[in-house]
Amino acid sequence: MSANFITGTGTDIGKTWLACALLRHWRAEGRPVAAFKPVLSGFDPQRPAASDAGALLAALGRKATSAELDAIAPWRFAAPLAPDMAAALEGRCVDFAELVAYTRRSASASALRPSGNSCPTLIEGVGGVMAPIDERHTVRDWIAAAGLPCVLVSGSYLGSLSHALTALEALARVGAGVTAIAVNETPGSSVGLDATLESLARHTAGIPVLAIARNAPQAGVARLAALLA
Ligand SMILES: Nc1ncnc2c1ncn2[C@@H]1O[C@H](COP(=O)(O)OP(=O)(O)OP(=O)(O)O)[C@@H](O)[C@H]1O
Ligand SMILES: [Mg+2]
Repeated sequence: MSANFITGTGTDIGKTWLACALLRHWRAEGRPVAAFKPVLSGFDPQRPAASDAGALLAALGRKATSAELDAIAPWRFAAPLAPDMAAALEGRCVDFAELVAYTRRSASASALRPSGNSCPTLIEGVGGVMAPIDERHTVRDWIAAAGLPCVLVSGSYLGSLSHALTALEALARVGAGVTAIAVNETPGSSVGLDATLESLARHTAGIPVLAIARNAPQAGVARLAALLA
């Protein structure tokens, strides 16, 4: 399986940063890649390149044009809020069934190419695993309904262990598979990255836990890329 959902323990944890790093890694290997950010809140049409979709497009080597944004981020909202709230402010909503269908179609871009080369494909979620999408669904429901495995991005700040394990429980509850946990080092944390990894790994029932070190992220990115592709 080379399509993976990128989720996280919360907003601002590094989902987009990690997705871009993975895409650049695969492209440097000469692989075809694909990425999507289906639901995007806090979108400023005057500054499309500054959005998550803009960052993903840059990592894909593409421009943040309207057509490209429509292709990878069809549900865009202005308010920097959870999707249900951001959509409501515009008198809109995210149709969950349409979102799941779009995500499944996008993930199928990862099917084997005629060349025999698989195309690693990343779908970035929004916020954390329990961020509301509409009145009845959260991100974990989206992941489960799309039938995609996910990467859980967490941090190494004090309290991150509980956040990561709580997120794992929430995902397990709906049967979502977790390919790996990527611990994106929190700068200035009072807790060490290695200590966080050791402790977390004791509680994850064999799910690989990978470190993304701030000052040397490439080793962790390469390990994760190999696991996903
Ligand atoms: N390992 C890292 N090295 C350097 N900067 C990072 C790293 N991880 C995250 N950042 C920076 O931290 C900020 C938040 O990261 P990012 O935008 O990837 O979070 P996110 O989980 O995608 O947030 P959102 O929920 O808004 O989608 C960004 O400015 C990003 O560039
Ligand atoms: Mg993001």
